[in-house]
Amino acid sequence: MRPPKETKIEGAEQLLEHFSQRLMQSYEETYSLFRILRLLACAPDPMQQIRLVCSNVQQVLPFGWVAAVFRADAHVVPALRGRVVLTGEVANESSFEQALHRACDSLRGNEWTKVLVAGQHELATMTGSEVVCDPITFDDNVVGLLVAGSKQTENGEIASPEMQFLDAVAEFIGTFHENAARFFEQRAMSIGTIEALTAAIDAKDPYTRGHSERVAALSKQIALAYGIDEAEAERIRTAGIVHDVGKIGVPERVLCKPGKLDDEEFALIKMHPEIGHRILKGVLLLEHTLPGVLHHHERFDGRGYPHRLVGERIPLQARIIGIADTFDAMSSSRSYRPAMPREKVLAEIERCAGSQFDPSVVEAFKRIDLGEYDRLMSRQAAASESSQVRAAA
Ligand SMILES: [Fe+2]
Repeated sequence: MRPPKETKIEGAEQLLEHFSQRLMQSYEETYSLFRILRLLACAPDPMQQIRLVCSNVQQVLPFGWVAAVFRADAHVVPALRGRVVLTGEVANESSFEQALHRACDSLRGNEWTKVLVAGQHELATMTGSEVVCDPITFDDNVVGLLVAGSKQTENGEIASPEMQFLDAVAEFIGTFHENAARFFEQRAMSIGTIEALTAAIDAKDPYTRGHSERVAALSKQIALAYGIDEAEAERIRTAGIVHDVGKIGVPERVLCKPGKLDDEEFALIKMHPEIGHRILKGVLLLEHTLPGVLHHHERFDGRGYPHRLVGERIPLQARIIGIADTFDAMSSSRSYRPAMPREKVLAEIERCAGSQFDPSVVEAFKRIDLGEYDRLMSRQAAASESSQVRAAA
């Protein structure tokens, strides 16, 4: 007997509904892949970006957790080396992270299983679910692993479109890792060159030798004490290294003059922030140091230079470097005066809170361990002494 017409129509409607749902899901997945690709194209803060990628995967696929784990070897960029990113919930997170490391370390080339099942692999056993697993590769080496599991559906089985989606994301992360590796390599080269340049400028005058390195280290300490995160504090350290690079454009007779400078000479010295800014403006990888280079001689009360900026209009990076710079200048000997005693330096910084310095940055400065600064100063003095002995031999 023929089925009634209405049943046929109902069947067709269900099919249509199924297709439209699948189409919608495909659209969401494609759009999410596009969003993930864009996320990974930004300037790298690798941990933050991988975290966003994992949470994006979790938004579009019904997994209870998504994780990326990276090996602790030299193929992996330092910011990701030995790190784990986990979004979602798993029981006993720390043993799970150890299991992730073991799974990642045991992965060899093409020998890996795409879907791990409970009873056969510890990740699946620990979570009591099927786990999909994709290697992240760089230069033909496995550098990490992207895994997802605890699928929140009735049977919990992983379907083919989900595997394809995770394949694509692991590919993206591999490409991102490659770009990040090149980025950090180039940045290290640029910083190395600039470090050598600033050390040469500092060394022109025996009284400023090692100044930029000390200002950089102090600036990072202040930034961390202020509550700035490690990645940004590291950028501030770099800005500290290059803050006086513009002195290369100041005549040596002025830079190394023993005794006080006259007005004309002081006007020449005051040009160094703008000269430094012009030099570094073209260096893409050091763009983040420009605010510190240009504004580290501004004063909180607006009486500084070159732009007489007031208060929080002065970039925070520059407010931090300004204190580190002044502290180091007062703490080291100059041709026209000996180093000031520590108590006097600290009292002077405190006295200038609100006039020369941002009071909130002064508070952060007061929390740092100056023992690190003293140790750096001693190391620099010992290195300089031994190089003088070698030169004299
Ligand atoms: Fe300066």
